[in-house]
This record gives sequence, structure tokens and C-alpha cells, in this order.
Amino acid sequence: MECQTSPMSTPLEIIVKDANGWVFLIEKDALECDRPLIPVKIGGDKYILFKDGEGRIGLIARNCPHRGADLCFGRLEKGGIRCPFHGWYFDKNGQCLEQPAEPPDSKMFNAIKLPNLQVKLEKKGVYAYIDAQDR
Ligand code: FES
Repeated sequence: MECQTSPMSTPLEIIVKDANGWVFLIEKDALECDRPLIPVKIGGDKYILFKDGEGRIGLIARNCPHRGADLCFGRLEKGGIRCPFHGWYFDKNGQCLEQPAEPPDSKMFNAIKLPNLQVKLEKKGVYAYIDAQDR
């Protein structure tokens, strides 16, 4: 199956004006491809929906908190996605796990977390939890 993996792809856009609670995002099969990463726009905020190498699904902010690189160009790895610019590594919850250029004993990555939305995989597809009050 072909994926919308290019940053040039039109993002899947979710109108959240009246959305509150679990909102259907996409068919489950859309993430069954070589590079399961889809740009998503929710109420004006940009995210990426991706599946890591362990099959876990995440919906995290699209731009890296370091220098703003587009994570649509990121490298999907076993436990998350790695920024294509300086290699910061994020899990499905947006938590930074590694900063390769920091000294080995640095724990700064613990304080870095991308905005994220809860997602769940059900029979029909992928759902995101959207709180309209936050929009
Ligand atoms: S811009 Fe992402 S690690 Fe630098």
C-alpha cells in the first residue's frame, strides 16, 4: 500500500470544531506500508502519525523542538523516530530519548517532550483523543 510519507503530501486534516473525545483518523491499513508515517493537521496544529519498529503508534508534533526540522523526513527506528537534522530521538509519546551531540552523561533529554495526542488502534482504524477545550 502507498503511504503519504512525503512532507509535500497534503496532510490528513481533522476539523475539531465540535470534536471531543475519540475521533476517527484513518483506516488501519494506511499504516501497513514500508514507511508508516502520515502528516496530520488537527485544528491548525501539525502532527505526524507514525508506527515505530515495534508496531506502536504515536501522534506527535510534526516539528522538532530543537531547530524545527520536519519530522516527516525523520528516520523510523525500533522505538520511535529520529530527527533528520541532529538526530534527537523521540518515542511514540513525544518523549525525547536521545540527543547524540550532548555529552554522554547529559540527562537533558529527560526534560524534552513534544506535544502529543493519545491514539488507539481499533478494528476499524486509528483514533485520536481530542479535547476540544484545548483547541
Ligand atoms: S532540529 Fe531536530 S535534532 Fe536538531
